[in-house]
Amino acid sequence: MNVLGIETSCDETAAAVVSDGRRVRSNVVHSQIAAHRPYGGVVPEIACRQHVELLPRIIRAALDEAGLGWDAIDGVAATRGPGLISSLLIGYTAARALAFQRGLPLQAVNHLEAHLWSAFLGAAAPEPDEVLPCLMLLVSGGHTALIRMLDIGRYTLLGQTLDDAAGEALDKGAKLLQLGYPGGPAIEAAARGGNPAFVRFPRGLEHTPDSEGRDGLPPRLCFSFSGLKTALLYYLRAHPGALEDGPRRDLAASYQAAVVDALIQRVERALDDHPDRALGCVGGVSRNTLLRERLRDLAGRRGVRLLLAEPAYGTDNAAMVAGLAGRRPWPATGADLEDVAANLPVA
Ligand code: KG4
Ligand code: ZN
Repeated sequence: MNVLGIETSCDETAAAVVSDGRRVRSNVVHSQIAAHRPYGGVVPEIACRQHVELLPRIIRAALDEAGLGWDAIDGVAATRGPGLISSLLIGYTAARALAFQRGLPLQAVNHLEAHLWSAFLGAAAPEPDEVLPCLMLLVSGGHTALIRMLDIGRYTLLGQTLDDAAGEALDKGAKLLQLGYPGGPAIEAAARGGNPAFVRFPRGLEHTPDSEGRDGLPPRLCFSFSGLKTALLYYLRAHPGALEDGPRRDLAASYQAAVVDALIQRVERALDDHPDRALGCVGGVSRNTLLRERLRDLAGRRGVRLLLAEPAYGTDNAAMVAGLAGRRPWPATGADLEDVAANLPVA
């Protein structure tokens, strides 16, 4: 089955064609970073206007790169949520219109579930039944969560962030360090050769046995990054000159180490509780080299198979949307999907 996928939940305008859920025939992503950079973050109004302008060309490019015409497409899928509501509407409405015009089935896809599927895209990735159930670390700009994937469409939420997401922490830290936007890759580049032990930043909340998690989740599997950002702010206030190249490199390395340590610590605890066959990591922050190294090391020590999303499928893309849709049941053509929940179907 060939699926055309569309992703416009934030500031990437993306379309892709994927066969049988895993074979990526095209994966076209236009990052709007340049348009948002002057503002130091994503401006929703600019994002949705750019989606309107760019999407027709991106969809055309996805079909052309795949070498397929509309007659070879069996279904259309688009991200329905969560994300920026105005941006989501552009991609989803386009998908609806195309499906209607071509008489194709339409599938509304949850963005987080699509990220989880990114670990199964491409020839090097396993088939789900080889590794499920598996533990997934989802680390993006908007979400940080530990999820146990039992099957496609069946997930258990083990832990999540109480405040900022890991990517958000990196983006905010980079802003304080005047490293530009987006912060994750900027901190990674600035940290190269720096001393990660220069400043010992907090590794998330130190939980007491009676401290609270979120939504009834155990605190030991939850994340907290807002204190880290504040610690950096106070450090910079107390140390004029810290933004000179030498100390800034060490600060970037120390900050990155704190984020990665906090993630790895919770993953280890989750593996203690659920010694699954495989450990996956998906989302924009999964591109981070230090995090990938630490996960490789951890998986080696625990003897679990590691599923790292290929870097191209780490940040937002439509291949993960088209791929997941290719493995999920399709509603009847013309079905009204307005009620499809924007929440990950967790048990
Ligand atoms: O998954 P994604 O593209 O968008 C969301 O769904 O949020 O993730 C974007 C996030 C941003 O916070 C960005 O700074 C971070 O991923 N990111 C990275 C790297 N590349 C992107 N963080 C750390 N290291 C990277 N190399
Ligand atoms: Zn995302």
